Amino acid sequence: MSKQPIGIFDSGVGGTSIWKEIHTLLPNENTIYLADSTNAPYGQKGKEVIIDLSIKNTEYLINKGCKLIVVACNTATTNAIDILRDTYNLPFIGIEPAIKPAALQTQNNAIGILATKGTLSSALFSKTSGIFASNIHVIEQVGEGIVELIENGKLWSNEMKTLLKDYLKPMIDANIDYLVLGCTHYPYLMPLLVELLPSHVKIIDSGEAVARQTKAILKKNNLLNTETTNSKNYFYTNADPSIMQSLLNSKFLVEYLDF
Ligand code: SIN
Repeated sequence: MSKQPIGIFDSGVGGTSIWKEIHTLLPNENTIYLADSTNAPYGQKGKEVIIDLSIKNTEYLINKGCKLIVVACNTATTNAIDILRDTYNLPFIGIEPAIKPAALQTQNNAIGILATKGTLSSALFSKTSGIFASNIHVIEQVGEGIVELIENGKLWSNEMKTLLKDYLKPMIDANIDYLVLGCTHYPYLMPLLVELLPSHVKIIDSGEAVARQTKAILKKNNLLNTETTNSKNYFYTNADPSIMQSLLNSKFLVEYLDF
């Protein structure tokens, strides 16, 4: 069982930011990454559609023999993970915006959250925000258009910089000291965010915490791969592979798959 791969899916290429953290912490683990880029962004879709797409991705990974699935997409986690857990008999790891650490550490009582519409409007997000951030000023911003630009290979474009400037302005005006990245595509914006934000603002994403959680759940279920040989890592996308390839080391080959 333990040699079986970890399955990871996202609406597109962004979840590779999570895969990198998992691979760094668990280099022996075999992985299969599924990018549903043809259907990206999930963040603008309705809950039922997000659930159907999450089921499709999950069933592909289960049929490939995955022992655990990481839902490397905030939008799919906040809208579909309960149903996935109720339906399938294997562990699921989800990604939620890291509101808790930001809310606990803010000195200015003001934090910013950049996420998709699907994440910010979800019941799970409201619940987490209500528990941890009810007494602080939370500036929520929908990152409309960001995922599309990344999926189209326009990470470093002027369009991206203009969008980010607009989205960050209300947060800067409110004097936030923490910015929470609530979408797995957004860690790829880090250099731009650092350039555009005042230097005292700390940026938090969930990648490392998700990798630690993945390790803990594998261990608890006796599923860790104890082999020390090089792991096998497969990357599949149902869109142009070159975009995802540009985000990964060239030793990891991205293949087109019609799923
Ligand atoms: C999206 O598909 O809209 C973004 C994915 C995410 O929420 O992490």
